[in-house]
Amino acid sequence: MPRQSVWFVRTALLYLGVGFTFGALILWQKGTGMLPLAWLLLPAHMEIVLLGWTLQLAMGVAYWILPRLQVDGRSTRGRQRAVWWSYALLNAGILVVVVAGMRTTSPVQAPAVALGRLAEAVAVALFAWHAWPRVKPAGAGRR
Ligand code: HEM
Repeated sequence: MPRQSVWFVRTALLYLGVGFTFGALILWQKGTGMLPLAWLLLPAHMEIVLLGWTLQLAMGVAYWILPRLQVDGRSTRGRQRAVWWSYALLNAGILVVVVAGMRTTSPVQAPAVALGRLAEAVAVALFAWHAWPRVKPAGAGRR
């Protein structure tokens, strides 16, 4: 497994633990009414399980498994620097959105969430830019 995939998948697993824990706390509140503050975790739960866990796991595995490119007789995964930036921006964006999502009364909440979403969108675009030439039938499009 390439180093980038290790980072994506390990980070995704950490988010799995945190996201499911948040979900369990919200569920506990729903069942018992003992933890009203748990509702503050709902935006973080959604962000973490959808992007931090699911999307990030898919990205890590895709980076590993997509066909490699042949460049000058060498086998390569292509635009690797873009993938590192994608990892950094995705996780920075998730953290910003999660923290901002809990600060419901802060006047900077909306701009912070927008900034986080922008970082996530750029991360996805960078990953797609890297992946595009690698999505091809086996043995086709050698360059
Ligand atoms: C990959 C797994 C999961 C995904 C993608 C996911 C996604 C979501 C989303 C999008 C919502 C918001 C739903 C809405 O507002 O209509 C939500 C709510 C919730 N999730 Fe999860 N979730 C996952 C796993 C879990 C787990 C494991 C638990 C509990 C241990 C959990 C507990 C909850 C609870 C209690 C709510 C609030 C439901 C309500 O509004 O009444 N989730 N989840």
